[in-house]
Formats: sequence, structure tokens, C-alpha cells
Amino acid sequence: MTEPALPPKPVARPDRVSLWRYGRLFRKDILSAQPARLYRAWMAEFRTPFFRSFLVNQPELVSEVLKARPMDFPKSDRISEGLRPLLGGSVFVSNGADWERQRRIIDPAFSGGRLQQCWPHLTAAADAAAARLAGLDGQSVEIEEITSHAAADVIFRVLFSIPIEHAAAAKVFRAFQSYQRSQPILNLAAFLPLPRWVPRGFSRRTRRTAREIRALIAAMVDKRRAEIAEGKAPDDLATKIMTTPDPETGRCFTPEEMVDQVAIFFLAGHETSASALAWALYLLASEPTWQARLVDEARDVPLDRLSALSHLSLTRDVFRETLRLYPPVPMMVREARAPERFRQRVVPKGAQIVLSPWHLHRHELLWDAPDAFDPGRWQTEAAANSARNAYLPFSAGRRVCSGAGFAMAEGVLLLARILQAVRVAPVAGRVPVPEAHLTVRARDGIWLTVSRR
Ligand code: HEM
Repeated sequence: MTEPALPPKPVARPDRVSLWRYGRLFRKDILSAQPARLYRAWMAEFRTPFFRSFLVNQPELVSEVLKARPMDFPKSDRISEGLRPLLGGSVFVSNGADWERQRRIIDPAFSGGRLQQCWPHLTAAADAAAARLAGLDGQSVEIEEITSHAAADVIFRVLFSIPIEHAAAAKVFRAFQSYQRSQPILNLAAFLPLPRWVPRGFSRRTRRTAREIRALIAAMVDKRRAEIAEGKAPDDLATKIMTTPDPETGRCFTPEEMVDQVAIFFLAGHETSASALAWALYLLASEPTWQARLVDEARDVPLDRLSALSHLSLTRDVFRETLRLYPPVPMMVREARAPERFRQRVVPKGAQIVLSPWHLHRHELLWDAPDAFDPGRWQTEAAANSARNAYLPFSAGRRVCSGAGFAMAEGVLLLARILQAVRVAPVAGRVPVPEAHLTVRARDGIWLTVSRR
């Protein structure tokens, strides 16, 4: 048996850093700021003059916050604040009764048979991505740009039944790209020792781009409303969400609320999947043996049927392992609504509780060979155990990602389809360094050479 590969560590990890240095590193990159001891610690506290933050790695505490008492640890406004210009009061940033109502309307759109209905859209987007890559035969390409395009294509097709080439979709996609570039590191505000009154999170450009995106989405929502009224709307996610009343109040989303939800579906649905797919292709480029196994696995599988998924277990393991090493959402932040006691320490009311897939997934006491790329681990009891305690790519509990099942299916299908079309290889001298923006991206992109199979 060969030794599992070690993908590059995020960066050389400093062992201890002062708060001042932490702050400085944060401005550069949240991931390289993480000292080595946090990958062994059960909990760490950061005291600032204005508030306190606790990074929680102990599985029982993570479970307490996310699963047992989520309502006592609502989403932190320090994070939501930065996303409000784009997301308004959407399900991603709301809390309490308002959040519960929104989930009651959204969840049915992702339940059961939906995936079956979405499958033709998914395969059409996968075919388009594969054809696009095959057309770049022999070239070195920045793969994140291509996976972003592919994931956005998926989301436009499943939400509004239009491909990314459609004029409205293309405009929204370009505006989102500009938003991503203008957005600083997402979780910055939860850690930096700044009081709440210091303006942060978004620049004038970010606000302007957010307004543009919302106006474009509002036009799509209006058009769909008219189609629903005329009985001519396609049966897709947008129609489903717009026509589902809240079972408790009987009320549907208002047009403004629908713009909030569409904005989060675009953002959460394409940024994350694009990041995961790009890192998966990078890992497979670095590990040709696994790449070959995946190609073999999918060779005779008819990918145009949903049942294909049950034949792609190695591809699924590779995708899972990618989400472990490069979780697209590296950290989540909650706020303690009341004083708590964690590991004999007082957690004051208002403290920021940081749950970090980034640390948990590479925790030295929770995983064997945590930095190794070893998709084979997913067939072992040890990994199943580690996963129960320390695997949160989609979060957990009531606020778990609404699109988790969808995203897994999408990732596996796109990976299988792309590898049927092209071989990917690393580009010498271009080792991607992960950086946290809205999702985990590479500092100078992820460069791969693609060649048609
Ligand atoms: C690989 C792909 C994806 C990953 C890793 C991912 C991860 C996550 C995580 C970690 C959260 C929780 C964030 C927090 O609590 O702060 C979340 C929430 C959410 N995600 Fe995903 N996601 C993915 C794809 C999708 C897709 C495809 C959709 C929809 C089309 C989606 C929709 C949402 C929504 C609506 C929420 C908010 C849920 C709530 O707060 O109640 N995500 N996602």
C-alpha cells in the first residue's frame, strides 16, 4: 500500500502568536494566522478589549452549540452585518422565529424527490463544464474560474431553468464575481479586537455591487411572479419556493423576501460548490492514482440518471475528503445569548463562539494523519468515528446547510463528468495557498494543465 499523499499544509503554522500579530495576520489571511496549537486544543479563548471569542473544538461542546441548544447560540451579527447589503434578512443571516418561518418555506423545496427533478439540469451543467474544459486541451488554466462558472450554471438552471449563457444569468454572475473580489475576509469581524461601532465589513463598492445584484435578481423574481400568475412557470426551485406557503401562517414570501433568498442561494450555492470542486480537481491532479481510479469507476456509468450516484462511491469519498481538507466554509460564528460555562471557563453573554471546520477537520487528536489526502479513509471505522465527532462541512443541527444533499450530488456528478472529459495535472511551481474570502479560495488561483481524454 502506498503512503497517502500530503497536500501542502495551509502554511508553516506558527506555534504561538500574540494578539497583535494575530490581528495583523488576519488582515492578510485568516488561515495562515492559525497557530499550530489550535489544531490540538479543545478550546481557545481570545480576549480583546471589546469582546471575547472562544474557538471550540471539543466535539461535545460543538454539539451543544449546534445541535442541542442552537437557539441559545444564534448567528453572530458581527458576521451577518457584513452580508446584509446583499442578503437582506435572508435565511442565512436571520435568527429566532423569523429564521424558523423561512426554513419552513424553504426546506420542502430541497426535500425528497427534488433531486430527481433537478438531475437533468445538473447533467446539462456538468456536460457544459466538461465541454468547456475539453476545449482548453493542452492549456494551463485557472480552475477556480471554471468551477465558479460551472457551479453558477448549476444554480441558475435549478433555480430559474436558465443556463448561465442567458443574458440575465450572465449579468448576475459577473456582478457576483465583482462582489466576491470586493468582499474582505468573511469572518474577520468576529476575531478582530474592534468595537461594534467601528465601520467594517463592506466598502462603498461592495454596497454598490450588492444593490446591482439585488436589482437584477428582483427583475428575475418579477418575471417569475408573472409566469406563475399566468400558469406558465417552469417547475423549478424558484417556482416551488415562491408558491409554498408557510404551513403555520399560510403566508408566502413577499417579493422582497424572495430576493433575499435567491441572493443566498446564488451565494451559498455557487461559491461553496465552486471552491470544493476546484480543490478536488487540484488534489486529483496531485494524485494521479486516485484520478485514474475515479475515471475507471465512472467509465460505464450512465451519468444522465440519478441512480449513477450509487455507482460512484470512490468519487464520493474523494469529494468528502476534499471537503475535509478544504471546507469551503472554514469557520462559523455564533453568539452566547446568556452566560455559559465551557470547560470550567466562564463564557460571558455576547461572547463570540467560533466553530471551525478548518480546525476540526485537521485536528491532531480527532483524525489519523489529519493533513493527508487519503480518500480511502472513508471506508474505515476510524474515519466514520472521526466524522461523527469532527466533520462539519455543512454545519450540523437545525441550521445545517439547506442544500447539503444537493451539493454532495452536484460535486460527485461534476467531478465524474469532468474527469471523463479531461485529465488534470499540476502546473510546476504553482502550489495553491488557501485563503479565506467568502469561501476558502487559493491566493493566486488554482492552476492546472488540462488535456482531453
Ligand atoms: C459544497 C457545497 C456547500 C457547502 C460546503 C455548504 C456549507 C454550508 C454551511 C457550513 C452552512 C452553515 C453556515 C453557518 O451556519 O454559518 C450553510 C448554510 C446554508 N447553505 Fe450551504 N453549502 C454548500 C452548498 C449549498 C447549496 C448548493 C445551497 C443551495 C442551493 C446552499 C444553501 C445554504 C443555505 C440556504 C444556508 C443557510 C441555512 C440556515 O442558516 O438555516 N448551500 N452551507
